[in-house]
Amino acid sequence: MKRISALLFTIALTASAWGADLSGHWVVETHNNDGTTRKTFLMLKQDGENLTGKVGFAWADQDIRDGSFQGDKLSFVVAYGHPPNERLIHWSGTVENDELHLTEARGRRAPEEMIAKRTSDDAGNPPEKLPVPELHEVPYNGLAKTPQMGWNSWNHFAGKIDDKTVREIADAMVANGMKAAGYIYVNIDDTWELDRDANGEIRTNKKFPDMKALADYVHSKGLKLGIYSSPGPLTCAGYEGSYGHEAQDAKTYAKWGIDYLKYDWCSAGRIYQDSDMRAVYQKMGDALQASGRPIFFSLCQYGRDNSWEWAPKVGGNSWRTTGDIQDNWKSMSTIGFGQNDLAKWAGPGHWNDPDMLEVGNGGMTNAEYRTHMSLWSMLSSPLLAGNDLRHVGPDILAILENKDVIAIDQDTAGHQATRLKKDGDSEVWTKHLANGDTAIALFNRGGAPAKIGVEWPEIGLHKKPHLRDLWSHRSVKAEKNGYSATVESHGVMLVRVSGGR
Ligand code: GLA
Repeated sequence: MKRISALLFTIALTASAWGADLSGHWVVETHNNDGTTRKTFLMLKQDGENLTGKVGFAWADQDIRDGSFQGDKLSFVVAYGHPPNERLIHWSGTVENDELHLTEARGRRAPEEMIAKRTSDDAGNPPEKLPVPELHEVPYNGLAKTPQMGWNSWNHFAGKIDDKTVREIADAMVANGMKAAGYIYVNIDDTWELDRDANGEIRTNKKFPDMKALADYVHSKGLKLGIYSSPGPLTCAGYEGSYGHEAQDAKTYAKWGIDYLKYDWCSAGRIYQDSDMRAVYQKMGDALQASGRPIFFSLCQYGRDNSWEWAPKVGGNSWRTTGDIQDNWKSMSTIGFGQNDLAKWAGPGHWNDPDMLEVGNGGMTNAEYRTHMSLWSMLSSPLLAGNDLRHVGPDILAILENKDVIAIDQDTAGHQATRLKKDGDSEVWTKHLANGDTAIALFNRGGAPAKIGVEWPEIGLHKKPHLRDLWSHRSVKAEKNGYSATVESHGVMLVRVSGGR
């Protein structure tokens, strides 16, 4: 009898899981240690053992792939991140008491346990789309005559950034020569936000108790302070965005003494079409101009909607051309060497932004970091260090603070380099400089040392010029017909060529 009732009990339990209908909206709440909560919505559709639907992350809805529900077990996969750095997240778990007990596995990160609770079917849906303004041209704000230089918190600290660390970074930038080398902006990226007060004014979370006092401190060091937001309701990390509060936020930033805004598309993609992007960015461009303070406007939308064609017209000083960089050779080199076709869009006041520097974050060799710094400088890219500047060795400082290389980036003509030629893994890029000199970079993307060179007529010269090696800071000997060097694997020879016309 006992056996039979146990059997019946098991059958009943299994049947209840089988009978469970997972269709509907579920929410996973993750509590951050700054008092904020991130919500991820699972919008599921179950049909027998087939599970489809979407996961609503802060930055976008992602379609569920390979979803299944068998017995009481469910599993599915979603893509994460922006191409070309798209990765997969695997979710698996069980149904228990009408809750989903899930494990989330992302790449090499330790798997995380989480519980999804049922919620109403409109929870997680994006708010109604606000009307977008008519297009017009926002006047140039006079900033960014040369590409912006500074530091940004995201690449190293991500969500673990706070007031104290920003002050320490500012101190370090003064003490270690970064400020003297031209790195002026100290930019707080995502995760400073809390919510809005009764008047709709944005409030900082407890990691940033007083933004105005922080700005005063950074200014007292002769540096400038940057901040981050999104045109959507949420930032990419799931914090409060500027949706419907654009003009109010611009005024708040001005009141605090903010000098730079990175404005990241993120959850705006759940509401607007890419074709609305220009109008949506224009709204903030206008708001910054009306704020009464010159605020650098950095667009971040991962190269979508050919932003280079319209970004200066919305008052943008720079625009991202790619997905997020990672601290490895493949990511950095794919991004950097992929910028050739965008050269014509860069110039004083408005720059292509292939993302922030990873120099010093530990995932590449020093030769690879010299290539990163050389390539970004050739490309007239923003130089925003992304490492922990409080703890940085002399070898990394020598890369970031190389004045000869920085001069290539900061050249006032603002001609972004282009690829002169490519032979297998060897590439030669050139950049024409304001004083008539030419910067030549011989890049070796291969796994073994390679001899790379140029002949003078290829760069429009008729006789032997003077050559300076910008990493050894010495003159180098040119040959009558041209110049060549053996370049180490993943390395660069960067020279400045004068005369020879
Ligand atoms: C996006 C941006 C990154 C960073 C994060 C913050 O991924 O591209 O540079 O700002 O958001 O959440």
